Amino acid sequence: MTDSWIKVADEGAVADGGLLAVYPCGLGLLLVKAGGTVYAVANRCAHMACPLEAGACDGFVITCPCHDWRFDVRTGAFVEAPEISIPTYPVRVAGGEVFVEL
Ligand code: FES
Repeated sequence: MTDSWIKVADEGAVADGGLLAVYPCGLGLLLVKAGGTVYAVANRCAHMACPLEAGACDGFVITCPCHDWRFDVRTGAFVEAPEISIPTYPVRVAGGEVFVEL
């Protein structure tokens, strides 16, 4: 792996359907495990920047705890208006560890 892949968590720390906030290089990211795959998105809502870590996860959709905006963790798209989105980051899981490409 190149230097742009940063270890952010042990795979076991991310439960299926769960959310885990991580801060590689000081960047606030949210790991979401859905359908057995780990996704990484910005931990900052596209509406008014609320942290998404206190939100709810249902399948591939996380709901912001502040005003219920919903985002697809696979694409970062706001469900009701996909032209609005939150950043997503490539994820690799290797050797029981989760890496994110920054
Ligand atoms: S800050 Fe997330 S819905 Fe308003």
